[in-house]
Amino acid sequence: MRMRRKKNLETRFEKCKWIVLSKSTNIYRLPESERYDVQDLVKLFSNNNPVELEIGCGCGNFIVEKAKRNSNINYIGVELIDNVIITAGEKAESESLENVRFFNCGAEILQYLLPKNSISNIYLNFSCPYPKKQYENHRLTYKYFLEIYKFLLKKGGKIYQKTDNDAFFEYSYNSFIENGFIIENYTTDLYSNLPSDNIATEYEEKFVSLGKNINSLVAKQEE
Ligand SMILES: C[S@@+](CC[C@H](N)C(=O)[O-])C[C@H]1O[C@@H](n2cnc3c(N)ncnc32)[C@H](O)[C@@H]1O
Repeated sequence: MRMRRKKNLETRFEKCKWIVLSKSTNIYRLPESERYDVQDLVKLFSNNNPVELEIGCGCGNFIVEKAKRNSNINYIGVELIDNVIITAGEKAESESLENVRFFNCGAEILQYLLPKNSISNIYLNFSCPYPKKQYENHRLTYKYFLEIYKFLLKKGGKIYQKTDNDAFFEYSYNSFIENGFIIENYTTDLYSNLPSDNIATEYEEKFVSLGKNINSLVAKQEE
């Protein structure tokens, strides 16, 4: 069950309810047939434009900026923590952005919320590295999540990852290869040759200001 929200958080969610959808991640206690709430993306965005996903979007700087720059692409930000995602929802709302929505839930249930082969690209920005081996299954590049991404991605769809954590980057690189992805390109020092269209996330700005190297890769499903 979702924990009861503090009153002012409930009011904030109420104001943003057209933009932030809340789902309990704890649906695994339900029988499989009752877990589905597959969203009609054409209805959700009132158009048939491509849809991209950011998983673990935090306070939403990246996805809101993406949505501002690309009005012909729809974006969904997924974030587990309600008092974080509400800030993202409020940012998008204050900019009156029609092409962004947020799902307040864990990535582990996305296959019950989104149609198969409906997503053009997935962004994993500074995902929690969960360095302890016993929490490996929480890492957003663990094989379980990669299977979900395969289900969601359209043919030719790509996953874009950025992280400050070198060990997590190496783990992710290997996990992509072991689970049927091709690494199209990667760098362990994104800022040595920064693409002009790079959008820095909240965490990215923090780590860059500390002089930390930023790792980045693009992975694509094997044909
Ligand atoms: C380190 S923060 C990075 C936030 C943002 N992407 C950035 O770069 O500034 C990672 C975020 O991922 C979220 N997160 C962790 N596991 C998740 C999951 N399974 N599903 C959705 N969000 C998750 C956390 O709540 C946290 O807000």
